[in-house]
Amino acid sequence: LHHLLTTNELKVDEIYQILNDAHNFKKGMEWHPEKKIFAANLFFEPSTRTKSSFEVAEKRLGLDVIHFEVLTSSVQKGETLYDTVKTLESIGVRTVVIRHDQDRYFDELVGKVNIPIINGGDGCGHHPTQSLLDLMTIHQEFGQFAGLKIAIIGDIRHSRVARSNADVLTRLGAEVIFSGPEEWFDSRSADMSKYRPIDYAIQEADVVMLLRVQHERHQQKSSFTANEYHKQYGLSLEREKMMKQDSIIMHPAPVNRNVEIADSLVECKRSRIFKQMENGVYVRMAALKRSIESLEGGNGYETTYSK
Ligand code: CP
Repeated sequence: LHHLLTTNELKVDEIYQILNDAHNFKKGMEWHPEKKIFAANLFFEPSTRTKSSFEVAEKRLGLDVIHFEVLTSSVQKGETLYDTVKTLESIGVRTVVIRHDQDRYFDELVGKVNIPIINGGDGCGHHPTQSLLDLMTIHQEFGQFAGLKIAIIGDIRHSRVARSNADVLTRLGAEVIFSGPEEWFDSRSADMSKYRPIDYAIQEADVVMLLRVQHERHQQKSSFTANEYHKQYGLSLEREKMMKQDSIIMHPAPVNRNVEIADSLVECKRSRIFKQMENGVYVRMAALKRSIESLEGGNGYETTYSK
């Protein structure tokens, strides 16, 4: 089974395979499963982009998407994640996308369920399809990863996007540096030697990748207001002028406008924020294709009954 749980587990050639499939889907490639496949999207945390783009991807591939909402499911009666997934597997679902607030929620499923799991984000852990769509966006822009400098700026400690991207971009030959509030940066979340002052990071980077301030994961109230954050660490109009001529702005979104980035820069010429969302559909089609292809053989019908 091909789960997609973290980017760390993907070999470089598997990453390029997914990016190639995503590129071809964008160009109009058709691929559909040979048999009817039911898919379910289990979102235990809010989502707009990931959930909707998985649903679009599933429908474009011709999958039957089971409607599942945590709030109206037996999760509310205390059913565990394992029993929920095992139930869906028993009734015929053949691939699940899961977002959960618990880091590495998938450890309790892998080896016990017989359908591929695609991680739509686990706590402060990983968000592999976000990372893959970021890679697709960067590659579309620069045609390679080697030699690029990527500045990941903001709430590093609480960001699953930062973790997924730092790992994979480094393996693909880019240089990753970090900036943002030092109180949201520690050795558990990133390589401390890669920390740079904000103005240096913005001037040096080919890609300025901003992260959302994740208030919902903060244990204590942050020590600065939205305004102060924007002044000290945000991409303000003044800082945008310091960027290299051909460098681009990325943000996984949702965006806190005028906090991580000035409102008028969200859709400026350098911004690839909505391009990232568009690419998300193609990357998710490629991730689903990879999972469904791994079912072949194990998904066949036996001819137990005969005349
Ligand atoms: N980037 C991202 O994961 O957005 P959603 O939380 O809206 O899915």
